Amino acid sequence: MSHEDMTVKIRPIRPPDYQPVISVIDHWWGGRHMADKLPRLFFEHFTDTCFAAERDGELVGFLVGFTSQSRPGEAYIHFVGVHPRERGHGLGRRLYEHFFAAVRANGCEQVRAITAPVNQGSIRFHQRMGFNIEPGDIQDGGVPVAAGYDGDGQDRVRFVKALAD
Ligand SMILES: CC(C)(COP(=O)(O)OP(=O)(O)OC[C@H]1O[C@@H](n2cnc3c(N)ncnc32)[C@H](O)[C@@H]1OP(=O)(O)O)[C@@H](O)C(=O)NCCC(=O)NCCS
Repeated sequence: MSHEDMTVKIRPIRPPDYQPVISVIDHWWGGRHMADKLPRLFFEHFTDTCFAAERDGELVGFLVGFTSQSRPGEAYIHFVGVHPRERGHGLGRRLYEHFFAAVRANGCEQVRAITAPVNQGSIRFHQRMGFNIEPGDIQDGGVPVAAGYDGDGQDRVRFVKALAD
């Protein structure tokens, strides 16, 4: 893996980032229809734990996550995306580490995330980032999956990671 590219700046997300993110997200997810899963509310009400990555003012990555309201000490990453041109150079890792630092400062000790079993790249990425896969009720390609977790036919792989001190 190459060195971190410090010409890419990471900053808190803001409401004006909503439109630029929504306009690229389906493309960044390889044509899957994702925009509906990322409502504007995250860009209004979760700005302490959501981040944008920019190269010369161009959006090249983002992370949307939050500290759980219901589970003390727990945080959740809802979305992470890196521009296809920028992948494989450590930006996803940087965004996650930025988030880990932010939620650790909020007292979090554990981070959760989920992904669709079809998203093999995301499964590999989370494993490299030190997440464990939680037990499932079915197996999909050797991976434990929670069947119907997000509704009919919407199976999900669930990840959990303990944050080190
Ligand atoms: C998943 C994603 C965010 C990774 O971003 P990235 O900048 O390419 O990731 P990094 O370069 O920081 O990689 C971090 C680690 O994960 C590994 N990794 C990343 N993508 C991988 C893949 N597709 N297959 C295997 N390993 C992968 C890297 O090798 C690296 O490991 P290392 O640091 O131990 O060497 C990016 O591929 C993406 O935007 N995908 C489309 C959106 C998506 O599916 N998001 C996740 C679900 S919300």
